Amino acid sequence: KADLRATLLEINKIAAQYFYVQLKSEQGKIGYTYLKNRELSDETIKAFGLGYSNKYSNDLFKYLQGKGYSEDLIRQAGLINTDERNGVYDKFWNRVMFPIMDVNNRVIGFGGRVMGDGKPKYLNSPETVIFDKSRNLYGLNRARTSRKPYFLMCEGYMDVISLHQAGFTNAVASLGTALTTGHASLIKRYVQEVYLTYDSDEAGTKAALRAVPILKQAGISAKVIRMDPYKDPDEFIKNLGAEEFEKRIGGARNGFLFSLEILSKDYDMESPEGKTAFFKETVKRLIGFEDELERNNYVEAVAKAYKVSPESLQKLVTKTAVTEG
Ligand code: CTP
Ligand code: MN
Ligand code: MN
Ligand code: MN
Ligand code: MN
Repeated sequence: KADLRATLLEINKIAAQYFYVQLKSEQGKIGYTYLKNRELSDETIKAFGLGYSNKYSNDLFKYLQGKGYSEDLIRQAGLINTDERNGVYDKFWNRVMFPIMDVNNRVIGFGGRVMGDGKPKYLNSPETVIFDKSRNLYGLNRARTSRKPYFLMCEGYMDVISLHQAGFTNAVASLGTALTTGHASLIKRYVQEVYLTYDSDEAGTKAALRAVPILKQAGISAKVIRMDPYKDPDEFIKNLGAEEFEKRIGGARNGFLFSLEILSKDYDMESPEGKTAFFKETVKRLIGFEDELERNNYVEAVAKAYKVSPESLQKLVTKTAVTEG
């Protein structure tokens, strides 16, 4: 119902304002200090509407009830939990709060980060009638007006915020989920190219490998940027700064070629057998390019990168395409 949606958005907006005010209060000092230690400016905190949820409380629940919202509605907004022992209590407590906005700057949910090593590191709003994780991207409300013809797609809230603060206002992140076709079609409305800036760990690499074909299928070209020797864009920017990040953008690798490079690690590329097996798998992927010109260009690029004759690779592609087709 349109009515329900509007009311839940209203509740979330009030909650975001509440968290923001808490951050600036005496109780919220711990949260404010945390964000300062992570080198966020007051301007950034404000721009992203960051906040703080109080310790052991149902303050927000009471506050929202005081504004006339029923327990049922507050629950539907995903802001409270109930159990036998504690009754009704705020879902988020003693966390730094990241409001999640849709493209129209409406608060559709929250991520809350613990300030130490507690688990889970991030607690997120459940999916609700206004919060579909697979159809929204963190930071898109701001990235959509960036002039760049591509998005920087990263993993986390802090990556997006650090990048924006450093001037890369085209950064977005999926909301603790893998990139979906829903994300891809959302992206397609704004840009035709995505630079994947996932974490340097194995999970980040795997996420990039999975994202490349999803983007490709939506007609978005994918490039990959690596953050090593740092963990993620946030740490990279803090240690090496915006200029170095810009250089990494310049050195971004084509998504398909990046995938092959990772694939090649599964083969003994020093032995003829290993290399042959690698090329057989590569050819299978090359015939996936339906556009002939594009396929030929990739054949050439692969031949060059892996030092085989483009003619023989082309022959293998043609032969395999015929037998498989
Ligand atoms: N995430 C989540 N729940 C968790 C851990 C992660 O929803 N328990 C999501 C968050 O959106 C997070 C993203 O996955 O931002 C990436 O996770 P990770 O790399 O572990 O966290 P960072 O974003 O690097 O967080 P931080 O820098 O604050 O440690
Ligand atoms: Mn969903
Ligand atoms: Mn990660
Ligand atoms: Mn991080
Ligand atoms: Mn990370």
